Amino acid sequence: MHNEEFTGRVAIVTGAAGGIGRESARLFAERGASVIVADINLAGAQDTVDIITAGGGAATAVRVDVASAVSVKEMVAATIATYGRLDIAHNNAGIKGADETIVDMPEEVWHAGISIMLDGVFFCMKHEIPEMLKVGGGAIINTSSGAGLIGVARFSNYVAAKHGVIGLTKAAALEYITQGIRINAICPGTARSQMVEEWMQGSAEAEASVAALHPIGRIAGPEEIAEAAVWLASDAASFVVGTAMSVDGGYTTL
Ligand SMILES: NC(=O)c1ccc[n+]([C@@H]2O[C@H](COP(=O)([O-])OP(=O)(O)OC[C@H]3O[C@@H](n4cnc5c(N)ncnc54)[C@H](O)[C@@H]3O)[C@@H](O)[C@H]2O)c1
Repeated sequence: MHNEEFTGRVAIVTGAAGGIGRESARLFAERGASVIVADINLAGAQDTVDIITAGGGAATAVRVDVASAVSVKEMVAATIATYGRLDIAHNNAGIKGADETIVDMPEEVWHAGISIMLDGVFFCMKHEIPEMLKVGGGAIINTSSGAGLIGVARFSNYVAAKHGVIGLTKAAALEYITQGIRINAICPGTARSQMVEEWMQGSAEAEASVAALHPIGRIAGPEEIAEAAVWLASDAASFVVGTAMSVDGGYTTL
């Protein structure tokens, strides 16, 4: 029963002010979950909540900086204070790659990529897992990238963080599967979002050249990525543990 499958469950989605995270939050809510819509951009998170509540779903916006362990701890505490439990987490917040060679990349740009996209996933799991253990299990989906599986020049901070997310996901999956928590990663190809629009800067040629990297011949809608995350959280994925699932129109198959 598609619509009711997450009824009674509580989900956190980080990076949910737009793009993939907004669609993931929307789909979890549409299928019955109560959703914490977490982002550093609180206004955007509130817009996502408004979309969900207009559709009859339950959601609450929480400001979080995933690069801060204290802020992440507060996000999880707010989840418990609001909905009383935690069953599902989609750790998805991210920033775009640097577009710099390694030699030219300022140290702070390197550290921003690693702290938001790798430390952030670590901090989230560190605080989410104890709450899932209290309810006897759960599911975590970490957003990696096609760039977590292959190299991309001038994106080393992003590529390193996203490769790291896959390793972290696999280690965590092995640590917690015997206690009922399934932990997996998704590796999206290019999907339409704020991050990608900024990078393509409205240029049809830029979009065509990015689309051409994907054997399917186009970029994704963010909901096509979110569907995979939501499926990994569902009971239909009950035997899927520690995988890095490509959702990329064939990008990493070339
Ligand atoms: N869109 C793509 O093509 C694509 C491809 C592969 C992977 N991804 C990954 O998908 C995830 C979602 O990205 P998106 O494409 O939807 O872009 P997006 O820019 O729409 O979403 C990213 C969100 O993360 C939030 N964020 C940034 N720093 C944060 C922080 N410190 N704390 C909390 N939130 C923070 C942003 O405010 C934003 O809402 C990212 O991890 C990204 O790396 C995206």
